[in-house]
Amino acid sequence: MSAGPRTDAPADTEPIPLARPVLGEAEERAVVEVLRSGQLSLGPRVPAFEDAFARRLGAPHASAVSSGTAGLHLALRAVGVSDGDEVVTSPFSFVASANVCVFERARPVFADIDPVTLNLDPDAAAAAVTDRTTAVLPVHIFGYPADIATFERLGLPIVEDACEALGAVHPDGVAVGARGHPAVFGFYANKQLTTGEGGVVTMGDPAFKERIDSERNQGRAPDMGWLDHDRLGFNYRLSDLACALGLAQLERLDGMLADRARVAARYGEALAGIEGLGLPAPDAGGNVRGWFVYVVQVPRGHGRDDVLRALRDEHGIPSKPYLPAIHLMSYYRETFGHREGEFPVCEDIAARSLALPFFPEMTDGQVDRVATALARVLGQTS
Ligand SMILES: Cc1ncc(COP(=O)(O)O)c(C=O)c1O
Repeated sequence: MSAGPRTDAPADTEPIPLARPVLGEAEERAVVEVLRSGQLSLGPRVPAFEDAFARRLGAPHASAVSSGTAGLHLALRAVGVSDGDEVVTSPFSFVASANVCVFERARPVFADIDPVTLNLDPDAAAAAVTDRTTAVLPVHIFGYPADIATFERLGLPIVEDACEALGAVHPDGVAVGARGHPAVFGFYANKQLTTGEGGVVTMGDPAFKERIDSERNQGRAPDMGWLDHDRLGFNYRLSDLACALGLAQLERLDGMLADRARVAARYGEALAGIEGLGLPAPDAGGNVRGWFVYVVQVPRGHGRDDVLRALRDEHGIPSKPYLPAIHLMSYYRETFGHREGEFPVCEDIAARSLALPFFPEMTDGQVDRVATALARVLGQTS
């Protein structure tokens, strides 16, 4: 028996990864060029990537940062969140959107989510506002646009967590991230665009850009020498290597987004017949999702973790519980006294959610294999 990789296997029996970035010669060339230039950081690719990203979205300004988390942290500081403040946000998100409030010794105040879009419910958010609320932090979860126009009516500063939402569009045709509020994108390897690790904050106010550019670089004012720092800052810089990768990825973004939408449409067809399975909300009311993950909710009466194990062990299909409710994580229970039952919609969705394999180059055959395996595991073979 050969120990090497099987080259004769039909494509539809190869292992299916959960996620996989699209990287090619353009990315290789871009990174090698930076290596040869000798300027690996604080070089020309940073503003070039920022400008190209802002142009692509129609946002006035953009600041490149080392991660989505770093961007959210700096954006919250820019709108003035500090000690003892409250930030109203979603418990159905990646933990970073709540953690960044705690970084500034503010309290993340959760409100329940809409059962269809899975985004922060504007009515629940309004009810959670107190006289200590200094910002609202909606999350465009799984790339579906949050109802920012309604949050704007609260009259509070908004920081948008758009880490999962590159390519999403609001009903008025404005790209998510281009409404003027600081909006934060993440570029981890499973995202619509990747720089390995990284992020961008977009914003309308040039004063926010100036502050974020300074705070990502140890608090250095733009026109000062190396050793003069006029405010507290961090090292949240994104390297030129990463920005070169980001520029190359931007060139192929339309194609990657279209491929993600194609894969999602195929999943929609392949899974439509499974009784009780919750599927991602279709675009409605002029909203356009920027496809990031394909998350389903297992039918009631099935254990999500049992389904995950059976997919893996019986069919070799990876999947992931995505996302767990933040308020029920042990740190949040212990620090803020949260308990089950506080946000019933979020808790129900989180307990049943499963992210299936999803990436731009996924073939129809691979989607169909996942769908057939899921139907079998759920006892619904057609
Ligand atoms: C909703 C959301 N917020 C924040 C983040 C944090 O981004 P990063 O991992 O780049 O720090 C992520 C990324 O995984 C995310 O999905």
